[in-house]
Amino acid sequence: MATDAPAVLSPGALAAVLDTGVDAIVHRESFYWDTPGRGIERVTWVPRADVTPSVACVKYGAGLEREALAQSALLDAAVDAVPTLIGCRQLPDGGVVLATRWVEGRTPDFSTEADLVAGCTMAAQFAAEWADRVRAYFGSGTPLPRRGVPAYLEPAWKWLLTHVRDVRWYEIRLARYAASVLEQDDLLRELDASLAADACREISAVASRLAHRICSTPLTLDPGDFARENALFGNDGRAYLLDFERVRIVPVVNWFERLGEDLRGQPAHSLLDVALRAFVDGWNATGVVPLGWEIFRGAHNSLRVWRHASELSGCLRDLVQGNLTYDARASAVRCARDLPKLFETAMTTL
Ligand SMILES: Nc1ncnc2c1ncn2[C@@H]1O[C@H](COP(=O)(O)OP(=O)(O)O)[C@@H](O)[C@H]1O
Ligand SMILES: [Mg+2]
Repeated sequence: MATDAPAVLSPGALAAVLDTGVDAIVHRESFYWDTPGRGIERVTWVPRADVTPSVACVKYGAGLEREALAQSALLDAAVDAVPTLIGCRQLPDGGVVLATRWVEGRTPDFSTEADLVAGCTMAAQFAAEWADRVRAYFGSGTPLPRRGVPAYLEPAWKWLLTHVRDVRWYEIRLARYAASVLEQDDLLRELDASLAADACREISAVASRLAHRICSTPLTLDPGDFARENALFGNDGRAYLLDFERVRIVPVVNWFERLGEDLRGQPAHSLLDVALRAFVDGWNATGVVPLGWEIFRGAHNSLRVWRHASELSGCLRDLVQGNLTYDARASAVRCARDLPKLFETAMTTL
């Protein structure tokens, strides 16, 4: 992250996204910058026939099609946990510019219980409301309104409609890769093979039960990356969700994939339980679709096994294929070390 990155978005392109009646852009500042050609700016402008400045968060670059699509759908559904969409345009180079209302506020600190509970409660309410709406994607009921989806987003929309139905990410890759890799003696030693191999074999045997557990939690819309930096506590007293780049429709327990990993590293181990409880309570408070604590907890344990198994599988595959852009061996060892314990925990709730 840097604050002094050059603006690469032309003033004309920016004005077109903000408002065709923009008279003058008063101030623009890059405040978040990761890769070249990709940026986030805070832009202040004065709309024509108005003397009150407006402020937008403008995000641009490649790969924002899904986010733009989600923002359009959210706007149509009048969801208030997401900053309002101001405009969205495709750039000549194929990238997307997305402008949302700037929310003055702070990033929560999920290592404190108060922020964690507030964040999870807000997220759960959002998720519960979407549990009812996403049913429309699965053949029963009217599809979500498509109003406001620009023509250039049509392919992305179609992609979303076909792939959100696809729950095959739970396919059993592990057994295949483990079998080929465990032939390799040096790796075998490093992986502490007996534990990892036993866990792998058992997981393969009960994979469908784990998957069933995960899929027994209601489907909903998941921003795809629920973490502290993608939440915002506004000075207006409301909490917001940001960053829908990896938006997906999945069993609700998947919301905790990343947050669960983050909280695991906290000294107070029980913070994860606090988060899960707050989420279940927040969800049930909406009364849309019931979510049982035992089911949710069991599904979460199952999902963690899946995640670790998939990660181990990926590391082993990369080692076999010589794709060593990261320390695949160390990652594999770490996954193999954690897997048996996670598996044991999941089995007690299966
Ligand atoms: N509408 C907004 N108002 C204020 N700040 C925002 C807004 N949208 C994003 N941000 C800030 O910018 C950061 C990066 O935005 P995000 O959409 O998460 O981009 P990235 O995909 O690069 O993570 C967020 O963590 C948040 O601090
Ligand atoms: Mg983010």
